[in-house]
Amino acid sequence: MEQTHPLDEGGDRNVDPCALVIFGATGDLTARKLMPALYNLAREGQLPTNFACVGFARREKTDEAFREEMQGAVSEHSRVKPLDESVWSGFKEQIHYHQSDFDKPEGYAALKTKLEELDQKCGTKGNRVYYLATQPAHFTLIIEQLKAQGLIYDGNDSSKFSRVIIEKPFGHDLDSAHALQKDLTQHLSEQQIYRIDHYLGKETTQNILVFRFANSIFESLWNNRYIDHVQITVAEDIGIGTRGHLFENQGLMRDIVQNHMMQLLTLMAMEPPVDLSANAIRDEKVKVLEAIRPFQPEDFKRSVARGQYGPGIAEGEKACGYREEKDVDPNSQVETYAALRLFIDNWRWDGVPFYIRGAKRMPKKVTEIAVQFKDAPGHLFSEHQAIDNNVLALRIQPNEGISLKINSKVPGTASPIQPVKMDFLYGSFFGMTPPDAYERLICDCMAGDAALFAREDEVFQSWKLITPILKYWEQEKMEFPNYAAGSWGPAIADQMLAQDGRRWRII
Ligand code: BG6
Repeated sequence: MEQTHPLDEGGDRNVDPCALVIFGATGDLTARKLMPALYNLAREGQLPTNFACVGFARREKTDEAFREEMQGAVSEHSRVKPLDESVWSGFKEQIHYHQSDFDKPEGYAALKTKLEELDQKCGTKGNRVYYLATQPAHFTLIIEQLKAQGLIYDGNDSSKFSRVIIEKPFGHDLDSAHALQKDLTQHLSEQQIYRIDHYLGKETTQNILVFRFANSIFESLWNNRYIDHVQITVAEDIGIGTRGHLFENQGLMRDIVQNHMMQLLTLMAMEPPVDLSANAIRDEKVKVLEAIRPFQPEDFKRSVARGQYGPGIAEGEKACGYREEKDVDPNSQVETYAALRLFIDNWRWDGVPFYIRGAKRMPKKVTEIAVQFKDAPGHLFSEHQAIDNNVLALRIQPNEGISLKINSKVPGTASPIQPVKMDFLYGSFFGMTPPDAYERLICDCMAGDAALFAREDEVFQSWKLITPILKYWEQEKMEFPNYAAGSWGPAIADQMLAQDGRRWRII
């Protein structure tokens, strides 16, 4: 059956009983995102009544020790603080720990026994969601082991389900993404695979479609006649933290650009879908990716920029350079900054550059899409003073909202013109913090709704675009570091825009 997009849904959904197994339960993602998301779902009564969560990881640990660690993690990272002790005391009883190596069949056999016991105790009815929050190298191995123990069911079995959430990056480049897909589909059907991109679960990302297609005033301007260019920024003030080892194998392009940034770009640039079904939306997103002009060798210098942070000041304190971070090669060539200049060769966007940048150790954390409009026609006012262009900024996070920069007359007898902003802020208007993306997505997977998960062709198309750049980077060494922690990135990224007579926005 065709899935409907969540925007098309009314009311709460029924989520079936199920056991959620998190592989990589002692990792960063579990502590920072998954467990706080589950706790908040429990707090809001959105978990199924019959629910159990099993953390699967290599370290020896008791259930009690795991619960205590998770309590610390939830207290620190939950979007709602302080921890509600009464919710926690009920929720923690649903959390269990299972120690095993990822490659030991006996560990999976013991998992099977544990899950069957939980089915009896918690009424989870044999339904399973497996969350692969591990390094990508373990994905196939874990699925093979689960399958061998009968823990993955036939995708057509309507009596119970087994679904797998796969963390990004899905593959390392185009070839490995195809290889991973081939490996996974030997054991899983496409409807059992949930490729997570948590940016799709963010409220403000979902609002891009509402903003564009539920308001008649903007869509008529949304094209190359009125738009000069678009800038998409995913900036983070944090560095690599404890993820040095992982990041050394990925870099910023694989970590953020190939997935999160491409999702934002496609939602911003797509045509209206025929309806709000998951496939109709994804079809339009894929068309955007297909229309992006492929990078040619001559573009690697003028339309691509990379950087790596050196020592500087970040989050108000002295910060070390990337090469001094834990588990990072002191001569590392891995990028912590990436910027692209893209063109979408279709009717709507012909000639409009899209500048996108993603980075660690920027002056602040901010994700936004900024649409810069063309100059107002004529010279009525611009003969006398410089007039700013209109800018529409969709603020994905933080301070979620939308702002429009317009020009206004300054009160008085003279006529100076000054830009002013019309602001809409989610938090102050709706009076609530939006739920975290992982809450939405975990819940969607438990409900069998894949609309906010990436489809295989989206993933492949995005890899197809950036794999040539990654290959070029492997051969061409850079002088790193080339920007200070806490600055807005390397000079080469500024030059990339300067060649078009433009500048990055000061956010
Ligand atoms: C993750 C990346 O996917 O997204 C991290 O692996 C990054 O490196 C994170 O910090 C950013 O997510 P958010 O929701 O904080 O913008």
